[in-house]
Amino acid sequence: VRPLLDPVPLPALYTSVGFSIFAFLATIYLIPALGPAFVKAGLKGADLLKPYRHDVPMSLSVYLSSLLSLLIASMLGFLDDVFDIRWRHKLPIPIIASIPLLMVYYAERGNTHVVVPLPLRFLFGTLVNLGPLYYVYMSLLSTFTTNSINILAGINGAEAAQALIIALSVILNDLLYLPWPVGFRVPLHLLGNTAELEVGGVWSAGMAHGSRELVERHLFSLYFMMPLVAVCLGFLYHNWYPARVFPGDTLCYMAGMAFSVVGIQAHFSKTLLLFFIPQIFNFIISCPQLFGLVPCPRHRVPRYDKDTNMLYPSTVELVRPPSRLTTLVLRVLAGMGLAQLTVHPTSGQVLTTTNLTILNVFLVRMGAMREKQLVQVLMCAQVTGSVLAFVVRYGLAGLLYDG
Ligand code: UD1
Ligand code: MG
Repeated sequence: VRPLLDPVPLPALYTSVGFSIFAFLATIYLIPALGPAFVKAGLKGADLLKPYRHDVPMSLSVYLSSLLSLLIASMLGFLDDVFDIRWRHKLPIPIIASIPLLMVYYAERGNTHVVVPLPLRFLFGTLVNLGPLYYVYMSLLSTFTTNSINILAGINGAEAAQALIIALSVILNDLLYLPWPVGFRVPLHLLGNTAELEVGGVWSAGMAHGSRELVERHLFSLYFMMPLVAVCLGFLYHNWYPARVFPGDTLCYMAGMAFSVVGIQAHFSKTLLLFFIPQIFNFIISCPQLFGLVPCPRHRVPRYDKDTNMLYPSTVELVRPPSRLTTLVLRVLAGMGLAQLTVHPTSGQVLTTTNLTILNVFLVRMGAMREKQLVQVLMCAQVTGSVLAFVVRYGLAGLLYDG
């Protein structure tokens, strides 16, 4: 006799029951164990309908929604790795992941004002309320931070190294806002009298603004960025050339979303974007391929030559005669030394171009290299970008903004 239905997959069921029991025991045990730590960190509420007033630990909605967005991004990244979704379809994935973040931002009556640059103040005033546009901006930010890391990829260590350097830059920026006690006393002996000279005192940008909120925002950012650095560093150890593990889209989305979460919740999205200079460059030169002017193969990684063990710029063939716009764009990029073209000897029609990625630009400009060298060049570019970002943020921004 054959059963009517497929048999229940018992091992899977047992595993699930096992996990559930484990989750139950962990919850029962961990809540009282960790509760005081939550209260100490300010993650607490008062039970309104009770005669007594103790602090009850809770995960505050801002933290919860931020973690939820991170988890959704990781989960969708994982689905993408499993099903290999076409990039066009995965472009909006981070928007879905940012929904919890944006909902709580809204519920908490998050700020939707932006400070107007000095030269435009005579038109708009000091602050402009972007309202719903601000939410559009925030969801685009998460789309950018996730996808821009994901498309600057394909050589060992690339994704994790980018995430690591960006996270370290964010941490450095956060540290500038914490009230560090850097003062010290220098004993002075003058004309037989002894006095003490106080140098420094408590200093930090946060204290200079006298804002506790500013300090808290940057602490929030640190709480997300420090574990991210730890994970990227550990991951990079195994992902370094020759890679024993790949980040997949899961790590790219998780890291990208972590950057959006802190940029949005801690209100430094413009500074954050300054740390993405190589990614912005890579995105801009990728546009002709991303938006269909030039064919976009599944992989745009450099070309590997196994005889020399070197990487060379990879090329893509323009199967159909290119439109005038495509030809113009490619010729401008080639003129700037960002792409190499082959053209028809008589008609001058463009036949092939190097894939339009920053990795290929490095290879076009600096010549063939080994994979490990190329990732080191990328890391140097990322560090240089961050140095530039700090110069712009703390040097030049004074020309556009006050304070
Ligand atoms: C993005 C890029 C694609 C690039 C790919 C490489 C765009 C639009 N998409 O696609 O051009 O080829 O990343 O990650 O720019 N791999 C390596 N070495 C590594 C890391 C990955 O060989 O160090 C290969 C492996 O075969 C791996 C695959 O890349 O399976 C992962 O590709 P995936 O992350 O799925 O590609 P996309 O993010 O879709
Ligand atoms: Mg990827």
